[in-house]
Amino acid sequence: MSNSMQNITTDFLVIGSGVAGLRAAIELAPHGSVIVVTKDIPTESSTEYAQGGVAVALSDEDEVGIHFEDTIKAGDGLCREDAVKILVEEGPARIFELIEWGAEFDKEGTKLAFTMEAAHTKRRILHAHGDSTGRELLRVLVNKVRSFTTIQRMQFYTVVDLIVEDERCKGAYVLKSSEFGVPGSELIAIHAKATLLATGGAGQIFSRTTNPAVATGDGMAIAYRAGAILEDMEFVQFHPTVLFAPSAPQFLLSEAMRGEGAILKNIFKEPFMKNYHPDAELAPRDVVSRAIISEMVRTNSSHVYLDLTHRDSEFVKKRFPRIYSTCLQYDLNITRDLIPVSPAAHYMMGGVKTDINGATSIEGLYAAGEVACTGVHGANRLASNSLLEGLVYGYRAGVAASQQEGQGSKVKGQERKTSDISAPDFDLEEVRTSLRRLMWEKVGIIRCGVSLNEAMENLSMWRSILDMDFNTRRGLELKNMLTVAFMITEAALERKGSVGAHYRSDYKERGENWQRHIIVVRTPEGTKVT
Ligand code: SIN
Repeated sequence: MSNSMQNITTDFLVIGSGVAGLRAAIELAPHGSVIVVTKDIPTESSTEYAQGGVAVALSDEDEVGIHFEDTIKAGDGLCREDAVKILVEEGPARIFELIEWGAEFDKEGTKLAFTMEAAHTKRRILHAHGDSTGRELLRVLVNKVRSFTTIQRMQFYTVVDLIVEDERCKGAYVLKSSEFGVPGSELIAIHAKATLLATGGAGQIFSRTTNPAVATGDGMAIAYRAGAILEDMEFVQFHPTVLFAPSAPQFLLSEAMRGEGAILKNIFKEPFMKNYHPDAELAPRDVVSRAIISEMVRTNSSHVYLDLTHRDSEFVKKRFPRIYSTCLQYDLNITRDLIPVSPAAHYMMGGVKTDINGATSIEGLYAAGEVACTGVHGANRLASNSLLEGLVYGYRAGVAASQQEGQGSKVKGQERKTSDISAPDFDLEEVRTSLRRLMWEKVGIIRCGVSLNEAMENLSMWRSILDMDFNTRRGLELKNMLTVAFMITEAALERKGSVGAHYRSDYKERGENWQRHIIVVRTPEGTKVT
């Protein structure tokens, strides 16, 4: 373990290597040196696992105005209209550009193929290799990134904190730590004139999630510690259909399956969605997730089923090859068997508050993708709008950050050492598991004042972790997960009403002043939630 900290200077620092981070890096590359830091292998991001696709108004029957209306409706009154307008209007250009760079979206004949997903009124979801859309986007973006000599990628570096001086972000401290529990050997201060967070979401704070292991809310937590404003943290989207089978991973069964006709059935094999919403399987995600929970409670079961067996098996295998082969590994043949599913945490609508150019409340700090809250998703994200958001707002944040004044230069008096940090005197893994279970049980799909206050009481027992220093990726992740867990729970307590994905059984109506956005910010006096 080193005693002294290393220093690196670059023009731009991008933290995270999913769609938003890479798209931003491509925009920054012509303007100076760029470092893209990622805490795992570069492809380990939510983008890699995105199945369904990219929503974009490009089909003959569609219009950007209709995509706008659908997004606003799904957001349940809390979308920022200017941000949505940009998303739907700039989306087509970002997609054409990707196609020019080599993206292979699925086609019907010579035309792009579009599928349907919940709460869309038109077939507008582009997909690639059936159900590997995110992987295709990454392939193309990584190739493009490789074509720039100005972009350096650093993998297996976990971000520790942002470097902030005179209320300006001037880079970040990162820790080389290739293995989870092994203390990091190298602490590096990366000094940059602009820093861009693209760290994705925080699904790992819930015991059931579709998110990869890297989604521990790092960007939200470090931004909070630096004093940035976070917004809409109570809005967590739960995906209705996630594989529920002993010994199988929590694998997403794309909403596109319901778009192609899959039916939800309870354990008595009875379809039930029509009893909950006129749009049945294609009702908004929060409605479908709550309907599944109700049905599970009613039938005293841990899951429901997704049934696609009535569709032609060759079509199913071709349309969902990744889902087909993954389920087969667990003895489930989606062309013949009913698939056990239940909901899981999927997406954070809230995050680090940004303007329409990705600028946060801290000078020199930008954010894009799931870590950011542009207001584009409001209280509930429209399916398949997130890859589009990563492309559109990654691009915009890259353009804005490239104009940042000043230069990356070493900051005085902020020397940090890993050698002073001793191993924690508690079991990190035990706390991590308890935290995830607590959040799922008390701050999950259906919340109430009692469950949220219980969550706060339990979280408070671990509060001292927030002031600790760690020299392992696992330790840093736990601190970040706890930070985000506090923010979600506090915001959920503050919103006394049910809107979008935030549902309180003790306040089933929207409540007073429901159109306000709740913000969370760290102040010298403590956390302010207003
Ligand atoms: C899915 O394929 O169901 C996920 C797509 C999304 O969350 O946008």
